[in-house]
Amino acid sequence: MIHSRIAGIGMYLPKNVVTNHDLTRYMETSDEWIQERTGIKERRYADRTGETTTTMAVAAATIAIERAGITPGDIDFIVFATLSPDYYFPGCGVLVQRALKMKEIGALDIRNQCSGFVYAISVADQFIKSGMYKNILVIGSEKHSFGLDFSTRGRNVSVIFGDGAGAVVLQASTAAGTGILSTHLHSDGESAEMLAMCNPGTHANHWGHFADFNEAQIGDMFMSHAMIDNAQNYPNMDGPAVFKKAIVKFPEVILEALAANNLTTADINMLIPHQANLRIAQFVQQKLALRDDQVYNNIQHYGNTTAASVPIALCEAWEKGLIEKGDLVCLAAFGSGFTWASALLRW
Ligand code: UT7
Repeated sequence: MIHSRIAGIGMYLPKNVVTNHDLTRYMETSDEWIQERTGIKERRYADRTGETTTTMAVAAATIAIERAGITPGDIDFIVFATLSPDYYFPGCGVLVQRALKMKEIGALDIRNQCSGFVYAISVADQFIKSGMYKNILVIGSEKHSFGLDFSTRGRNVSVIFGDGAGAVVLQASTAAGTGILSTHLHSDGESAEMLAMCNPGTHANHWGHFADFNEAQIGDMFMSHAMIDNAQNYPNMDGPAVFKKAIVKFPEVILEALAANNLTTADINMLIPHQANLRIAQFVQQKLALRDDQVYNNIQHYGNTTAASVPIALCEAWEKGLIEKGDLVCLAAFGSGFTWASALLRW
Protein backbone atom coordinates (compact mmCIF):
# COMPACT_ATOMS: atom_id res chain seq x y z
CA MET A 1 0.00 0.00 0.00
CA ILE A 2 1.39 3.40 -0.96
CA HIS A 3 0.77 6.27 1.40
CA SER A 4 2.41 9.64 1.98
CA ARG A 5 4.77 10.92 4.65
CA ILE A 6 6.38 14.26 5.36
CA ALA A 7 9.94 13.83 4.11
CA GLY A 8 11.08 17.42 4.69
CA ILE A 9 9.72 20.58 6.29
CA GLY A 10 10.75 24.25 6.22
CA MET A 11 9.51 27.68 7.19
CA TYR A 12 10.32 31.30 6.49
CA LEU A 13 9.46 34.29 8.63
CA PRO A 14 10.30 37.85 7.57
CA LYS A 15 12.84 39.63 9.75
CA ASN A 16 10.63 42.67 10.42
CA VAL A 17 9.03 42.27 13.89
CA VAL A 18 5.96 44.46 14.49
CA THR A 19 4.85 44.69 18.12
CA ASN A 20 1.36 45.54 19.36
CA HIS A 21 2.78 48.84 20.53
CA ASP A 22 3.98 49.57 16.95
CA LEU A 23 0.37 49.24 15.73
CA THR A 24 -0.83 51.93 18.16
CA ARG A 25 0.89 54.45 15.85
CA TYR A 26 -1.77 53.80 13.19
CA MET A 27 -4.96 52.86 15.07
CA GLU A 28 -6.69 53.10 18.42
CA THR A 29 -5.67 49.85 20.06
CA SER A 30 -3.45 48.67 22.90
CA ASP A 31 -1.01 45.92 23.73
CA GLU A 32 -3.32 44.97 26.60
CA TRP A 33 -6.44 44.55 24.35
CA ILE A 34 -4.60 42.54 21.71
CA GLN A 35 -2.89 40.22 24.20
CA GLU A 36 -6.01 39.69 26.28
CA ARG A 37 -8.31 38.93 23.29
CA THR A 38 -5.89 37.07 21.01
CA GLY A 39 -2.67 36.18 22.87
CA ILE A 40 -0.64 37.96 20.18
CA LYS A 41 2.41 39.98 21.31
CA GLU A 42 4.04 40.57 17.92
CA ARG A 43 3.92 39.48 14.30
CA ARG A 44 6.24 39.62 11.28
CA TYR A 45 5.70 41.78 8.20
CA ALA A 46 7.35 41.06 4.88
CA ASP A 47 9.71 43.59 3.38
CA ARG A 48 7.54 46.04 1.42
CA THR A 49 9.38 45.72 -1.87
CA GLY A 50 11.66 42.70 -1.62
CA GLU A 51 9.33 39.97 -0.33
CA THR A 52 6.13 38.50 -1.71
CA THR A 53 3.96 35.51 -0.88
CA THR A 54 5.95 33.61 -3.51
CA THR A 55 9.46 34.64 -2.38
CA MET A 56 8.65 33.58 1.20
CA ALA A 57 7.21 30.31 -0.11
CA VAL A 58 10.35 29.66 -2.14
CA ALA A 59 12.52 30.22 0.95
CA ALA A 60 10.45 27.75 3.01
CA ALA A 61 10.25 25.26 0.12
CA THR A 62 14.02 25.33 -0.42
CA ILE A 63 14.57 24.23 3.19
CA ALA A 64 11.87 21.52 2.97
CA ILE A 65 13.36 20.13 -0.26
CA GLU A 66 16.89 20.11 1.20
CA ARG A 67 15.69 18.37 4.36
CA ALA A 68 13.92 15.76 2.24
CA GLY A 69 17.31 15.01 0.67
CA ILE A 70 16.09 15.73 -2.86
CA THR A 71 16.40 18.58 -5.37
CA PRO A 72 13.72 20.83 -6.97
CA GLY A 73 14.07 18.66 -10.08
CA ASP A 74 12.69 15.69 -8.12
CA ILE A 75 9.39 17.41 -7.31
CA ASP A 76 6.47 16.05 -9.41
CA PHE A 77 3.70 18.45 -8.38
CA ILE A 78 3.07 21.67 -6.44
CA VAL A 79 0.08 22.45 -4.23
CA PHE A 80 0.07 26.07 -3.04
CA ALA A 81 -2.38 27.40 -0.43
CA THR A 82 -2.78 31.15 0.03
CA LEU A 83 -5.39 33.90 0.26
CA SER A 84 -2.86 36.62 -0.50
CA PRO A 85 -1.42 35.65 -3.90
CA ASP A 86 1.12 37.81 -5.72
CA TYR A 87 -1.39 38.21 -8.57
CA TYR A 88 -5.17 37.88 -8.90
CA PHE A 89 -4.09 35.35 -11.52
CA PRO A 90 -2.04 33.32 -12.29
CA GLY A 91 -1.66 31.62 -8.92
CA CYS A 92 1.54 31.34 -6.90
CA GLY A 93 2.12 27.67 -7.80
CA VAL A 94 3.52 28.51 -11.23
CA LEU A 95 5.66 31.29 -9.74
CA VAL A 96 7.30 28.73 -7.44
CA GLN A 97 7.78 26.37 -10.40
CA ARG A 98 9.58 29.22 -12.21
CA ALA A 99 11.61 30.43 -9.24
CA LEU A 100 12.91 26.96 -8.37
CA LYS A 101 13.57 26.17 -12.06
CA MET A 102 11.52 23.01 -11.78
CA LYS A 103 10.45 20.70 -14.57
CA GLU A 104 7.17 21.44 -16.38
CA ILE A 105 5.23 19.82 -13.55
CA GLY A 106 1.64 20.53 -12.56
CA ALA A 107 0.98 23.38 -10.14
CA LEU A 108 -2.30 23.77 -8.27
CA ASP A 109 -3.48 26.69 -6.15
CA ILE A 110 -5.81 26.08 -3.23
CA ARG A 111 -8.31 28.74 -2.09
CA ASN A 112 -9.28 27.61 1.38
CA GLN A 113 -7.87 30.38 3.57
CA CYS A 114 -7.11 29.27 7.15
CA SER A 115 -7.69 25.60 6.37
CA GLY A 116 -5.83 25.89 3.05
CA PHE A 117 -2.73 24.00 4.14
CA VAL A 118 -4.66 21.07 5.61
CA TYR A 119 -6.76 20.93 2.43
CA ALA A 120 -3.52 21.05 0.40
CA ILE A 121 -2.07 18.15 2.39
CA SER A 122 -5.23 16.15 1.74
CA VAL A 123 -5.11 16.85 -2.03
CA ALA A 124 -1.42 15.90 -2.22
CA ASP A 125 -2.07 12.76 -0.16
CA GLN A 126 -4.68 11.57 -2.68
CA PHE A 127 -2.27 12.05 -5.63
CA ILE A 128 0.40 10.05 -3.79
CA LYS A 129 -1.93 7.26 -2.65
CA SER A 130 -3.20 6.86 -6.22
CA GLY A 131 0.39 6.32 -7.37
CA MET A 132 0.35 9.35 -9.68
CA TYR A 133 3.15 11.33 -7.97
CA LYS A 134 6.08 10.54 -5.63
CA ASN A 135 7.25 13.93 -4.33
CA ILE A 136 4.78 16.77 -3.89
CA LEU A 137 5.70 20.23 -2.64
CA VAL A 138 2.91 21.52 -0.38
CA ILE A 139 3.07 25.18 0.60
CA GLY A 140 1.15 27.64 2.76
CA SER A 141 2.29 31.25 2.44
CA GLU A 142 0.76 34.65 3.19
CA LYS A 143 1.65 38.31 2.86
CA HIS A 144 -1.22 39.81 4.82
CA SER A 145 0.54 43.06 5.65
CA PHE A 146 -0.15 44.39 2.13
CA GLY A 147 -3.92 44.03 2.35
CA LEU A 148 -5.00 45.21 5.79
CA ASP A 149 -6.86 48.32 6.89
CA PHE A 150 -4.45 49.88 9.38
CA SER A 151 -6.92 52.59 10.41
CA THR A 152 -9.05 52.19 13.56
CA ARG A 153 -11.90 51.07 11.27
CA GLY A 154 -10.03 47.83 10.47
CA ARG A 155 -8.47 47.14 13.86
CA ASN A 156 -10.51 44.00 14.68
CA VAL A 157 -8.88 42.30 11.67
CA SER A 158 -5.54 44.01 11.14
CA VAL A 159 -4.06 43.36 14.61
CA ILE A 160 -4.51 39.61 14.16
CA PHE A 161 -2.69 38.82 10.94
CA GLY A 162 0.98 38.31 10.14
CA ASP A 163 3.18 37.21 7.24
CA GLY A 164 5.17 34.01 6.73
CA ALA A 165 5.46 30.72 4.89
CA GLY A 166 5.74 27.01 5.60
CA ALA A 167 6.30 24.08 3.25
CA VAL A 168 6.58 20.32 3.29
CA VAL A 169 7.65 17.67 0.82
CA LEU A 170 5.05 14.92 0.87
CA GLN A 171 6.64 11.72 -0.33
CA ALA A 172 5.38 8.27 -1.31
CA SER A 173 6.22 5.59 1.24
CA THR A 174 5.47 1.92 1.74
CA ALA A 175 6.54 1.77 5.40
CA ALA A 176 3.47 0.58 7.27
CA GLY A 177 1.84 2.65 10.01
CA THR A 178 3.68 5.91 9.31
CA GLY A 179 2.85 9.15 7.51
CA ILE A 180 -0.61 10.56 6.80
CA LEU A 181 -3.23 8.29 8.38
CA SER A 182 -6.30 10.22 7.22
CA THR A 183 -7.59 13.67 6.30
CA HIS A 184 -11.05 15.15 6.86
CA LEU A 185 -12.44 18.12 4.95
CA HIS A 186 -15.61 20.17 5.51
CA SER A 187 -17.35 23.34 4.41
CA ASP A 188 -20.50 25.33 5.13
CA GLY A 189 -20.95 28.27 2.77
CA GLU A 190 -24.00 29.62 4.59
CA SER A 191 -21.89 32.34 6.25
CA ALA A 192 -19.35 32.84 3.44
CA GLU A 193 -19.39 36.65 3.75
CA MET A 194 -18.86 36.60 7.53
CA LEU A 195 -15.10 36.35 7.03
CA ALA A 196 -14.36 37.49 3.52
CA MET A 197 -12.73 39.91 1.15
CA CYS A 198 -15.41 40.33 -1.53
CA ASN A 199 -13.62 42.90 -3.71
CA PRO A 200 -12.21 42.87 -6.24
CA GLY A 201 -14.50 40.11 -7.42
CA THR A 202 -17.01 39.15 -10.07
CA HIS A 203 -20.09 39.22 -7.87
CA ALA A 204 -22.89 41.37 -9.28
CA ASN A 205 -22.55 45.09 -8.62
CA HIS A 206 -24.98 46.07 -11.36
CA TRP A 207 -27.95 44.12 -12.67
CA GLY A 208 -29.08 44.41 -16.25
CA HIS A 209 -27.85 44.04 -19.82
CA PHE A 210 -24.23 44.92 -20.51
CA ALA A 211 -25.28 47.09 -23.48
CA ASP A 212 -27.44 49.26 -21.18
CA PHE A 213 -24.63 50.15 -18.78
CA ASN A 214 -23.04 53.56 -19.03
CA GLU A 215 -19.23 53.94 -19.14
CA ALA A 216 -18.88 54.57 -15.42
CA GLN A 217 -20.91 51.47 -14.53
CA ILE A 218 -18.80 49.28 -16.80
CA GLY A 219 -15.58 50.71 -15.39
CA ASP A 220 -16.86 50.26 -11.82
CA MET A 221 -17.77 46.60 -12.12
CA PHE A 222 -14.58 45.06 -10.83
CA MET A 223 -13.12 47.79 -8.63
CA SER A 224 -14.59 51.23 -8.02
CA HIS A 225 -13.60 54.32 -6.10
CA ALA A 226 -16.66 53.76 -3.91
CA MET A 227 -15.43 50.30 -2.93
CA ILE A 228 -12.09 51.77 -1.90
CA ASP A 229 -13.74 54.71 -0.10
CA ASN A 230 -15.89 52.24 1.87
CA ALA A 231 -12.91 49.95 2.68
CA GLN A 232 -14.55 47.08 0.79
CA ASN A 233 -11.16 46.11 -0.62
CA TYR A 234 -10.10 44.88 2.83
CA PRO A 235 -10.97 41.66 4.66
CA ASN A 236 -14.14 41.86 6.68
CA MET A 237 -14.85 39.67 9.72
CA ASP A 238 -17.61 39.20 12.25
CA GLY A 239 -15.09 38.10 14.89
CA PRO A 240 -17.44 36.91 17.65
CA ALA A 241 -19.53 34.83 15.18
CA VAL A 242 -16.40 33.23 13.71
CA PHE A 243 -15.10 32.53 17.21
CA LYS A 244 -18.33 30.75 18.22
CA LYS A 245 -18.29 28.52 15.15
CA ALA A 246 -14.54 27.80 15.45
CA ILE A 247 -14.73 26.46 18.99
CA VAL A 248 -17.38 23.93 17.88
CA LYS A 249 -15.81 22.81 14.60
CA PHE A 250 -12.18 22.49 15.82
CA PRO A 251 -12.95 19.79 18.44
CA GLU A 252 -15.46 18.12 16.10
CA VAL A 253 -12.99 17.62 13.24
CA ILE A 254 -10.19 16.51 15.59
CA LEU A 255 -12.46 13.88 17.18
CA GLU A 256 -13.57 12.79 13.68
CA ALA A 257 -9.94 12.11 12.70
CA LEU A 258 -9.25 10.19 15.91
CA ALA A 259 -12.43 8.09 15.57
CA ALA A 260 -11.57 7.23 11.96
CA ASN A 261 -8.33 5.69 13.22
CA ASN A 262 -9.68 4.11 16.42
CA LEU A 263 -7.64 6.53 18.53
CA THR A 264 -8.48 8.87 21.41
CA THR A 265 -7.29 12.30 22.55
CA ALA A 266 -4.90 10.54 24.97
CA ASP A 267 -3.04 9.15 21.93
CA ILE A 268 -2.21 12.61 20.55
CA ASN A 269 1.43 13.55 21.06
CA MET A 270 1.07 16.93 19.39
CA LEU A 271 -1.93 18.92 18.21
CA ILE A 272 -1.03 21.69 15.79
CA PRO A 273 -4.10 23.91 15.62
CA HIS A 274 -4.36 26.69 13.06
CA GLN A 275 -3.13 29.75 14.94
CA ALA A 276 -6.33 31.82 14.76
CA ASN A 277 -6.51 33.07 18.31
CA LEU A 278 -4.80 31.75 21.46
CA ARG A 279 -8.18 31.80 23.21
CA ILE A 280 -9.64 29.47 20.57
CA ALA A 281 -6.69 27.05 20.93
CA GLN A 282 -7.02 27.13 24.73
CA PHE A 283 -10.74 26.45 24.49
CA VAL A 284 -10.11 23.46 22.20
CA GLN A 285 -7.40 22.16 24.55
CA GLN A 286 -9.75 22.38 27.50
CA LYS A 287 -12.66 20.80 25.64
CA LEU A 288 -10.50 17.83 24.61
CA ALA A 289 -8.76 17.66 28.02
CA LEU A 290 -5.30 17.89 26.46
CA ARG A 291 -2.19 18.68 28.50
CA ASP A 292 -0.06 21.73 27.64
CA ASP A 293 2.64 19.50 26.13
CA GLN A 294 0.08 18.03 23.68
CA VAL A 295 -0.68 21.38 21.99
CA TYR A 296 1.68 23.73 20.16
CA ASN A 297 0.99 27.46 19.92
CA ASN A 298 3.18 30.21 18.50
CA ILE A 299 0.57 32.85 17.64
CA GLN A 300 2.14 34.99 20.38
CA HIS A 301 5.09 35.73 18.07
CA TYR A 302 3.74 35.43 14.53
CA GLY A 303 0.04 36.33 14.74
CA ASN A 304 -2.40 34.51 12.47
CA THR A 305 -0.62 33.62 9.24
CA THR A 306 -3.68 31.87 7.75
CA ALA A 307 -2.57 29.13 5.30
CA ALA A 308 1.00 29.36 6.63
CA SER A 309 0.17 28.96 10.31
CA VAL A 310 -0.07 25.15 10.47
CA PRO A 311 3.18 24.40 8.56
CA ILE A 312 5.06 27.13 10.48
CA ALA A 313 3.88 25.77 13.84
CA LEU A 314 4.57 22.17 12.75
CA CYS A 315 8.06 23.09 11.57
CA GLU A 316 8.89 25.08 14.69
CA ALA A 317 7.63 22.33 17.03
CA TRP A 318 9.70 19.77 15.11
CA GLU A 319 12.81 22.02 15.11
CA LYS A 320 12.47 22.37 18.90
CA GLY A 321 12.51 18.58 19.22
CA LEU A 322 8.90 18.48 20.42
CA ILE A 323 7.88 16.02 17.68
CA GLU A 324 9.76 12.75 17.41
CA LYS A 325 9.65 9.72 15.18
CA GLY A 326 6.55 7.64 15.91
CA ASP A 327 4.58 10.55 17.45
CA LEU A 328 0.91 10.97 16.60
CA VAL A 329 0.45 14.50 15.23
CA CYS A 330 -2.91 16.10 14.52
CA LEU A 331 -3.26 19.14 12.25
CA ALA A 332 -6.55 21.04 12.49
CA ALA A 333 -7.85 24.26 11.00
CA PHE A 334 -10.99 26.38 10.72
CA GLY A 335 -11.62 29.61 8.85
CA SER A 336 -13.23 31.62 6.09
CA GLY A 337 -15.78 29.80 3.98
CA PHE A 338 -16.44 28.44 6.49
CA THR A 339 -14.08 25.57 5.80
CA TRP A 340 -12.48 23.30 8.36
CA ALA A 341 -10.23 20.27 8.18
CA SER A 342 -7.96 17.89 10.04
CA ALA A 343 -5.13 15.53 9.23
CA LEU A 344 -3.76 12.81 11.44
CA LEU A 345 -0.23 11.61 10.89
CA ARG A 346 2.32 9.31 12.46
CA TRP A 347 5.67 11.17 12.35
O1 UT7 B 1 -8.15 32.62 11.24
C1 UT7 B 1 -9.38 32.87 10.68
C2 UT7 B 1 -10.44 32.66 11.64
N1 UT7 B 1 -10.56 33.83 12.47
C3 UT7 B 1 -10.83 33.68 13.74
O2 UT7 B 1 -10.90 32.57 14.21
C4 UT7 B 1 -11.12 34.92 14.55
C5 UT7 B 1 -12.16 34.63 15.60
N2 UT7 B 1 -12.51 35.81 16.36
C6 UT7 B 1 -11.67 36.39 17.22
O3 UT7 B 1 -10.55 35.95 17.37
C7 UT7 B 1 -12.19 37.53 18.06
O4 UT7 B 1 -13.56 37.72 17.81
C8 UT7 B 1 -11.43 38.89 17.81
C9 UT7 B 1 -10.04 38.79 18.38
C10 UT7 B 1 -11.41 39.19 16.34
C11 UT7 B 1 -12.16 40.03 18.52
O5 UT7 B 1 -12.26 39.77 19.89
P1 UT7 B 1 -13.67 39.89 20.63
O6 UT7 B 1 -13.42 39.62 22.04
O7 UT7 B 1 -14.65 39.02 19.91
O8 UT7 B 1 -14.02 41.44 20.45
P2 UT7 B 1 -15.26 42.12 19.69
O9 UT7 B 1 -15.10 42.02 18.22
O10 UT7 B 1 -16.54 41.66 20.31
O11 UT7 B 1 -15.03 43.64 20.09
C12 UT7 B 1 -15.10 44.07 21.46
C13 UT7 B 1 -14.73 45.55 21.51
C14 UT7 B 1 -15.49 46.41 20.53
O12 UT7 B 1 -15.72 47.64 21.13
P3 UT7 B 1 -17.17 47.98 21.81
O13 UT7 B 1 -18.15 47.86 20.69
O14 UT7 B 1 -17.37 46.95 22.87
O15 UT7 B 1 -16.98 49.35 22.31
C15 UT7 B 1 -14.50 46.61 19.40
O16 UT7 B 1 -14.72 47.81 18.69
O17 UT7 B 1 -13.33 45.71 21.20
C16 UT7 B 1 -13.20 46.68 20.15
N3 UT7 B 1 -12.03 46.32 19.35
C17 UT7 B 1 -10.79 46.72 19.64
N4 UT7 B 1 -10.30 47.48 20.63
C18 UT7 B 1 -8.98 47.70 20.64
C19 UT7 B 1 -12.00 45.54 18.24
N5 UT7 B 1 -10.73 45.43 17.81
C20 UT7 B 1 -9.96 46.14 18.65
C21 UT7 B 1 -8.59 46.42 18.73
N6 UT7 B 1 -8.13 47.18 19.74
N7 UT7 B 1 -7.71 45.90 17.85
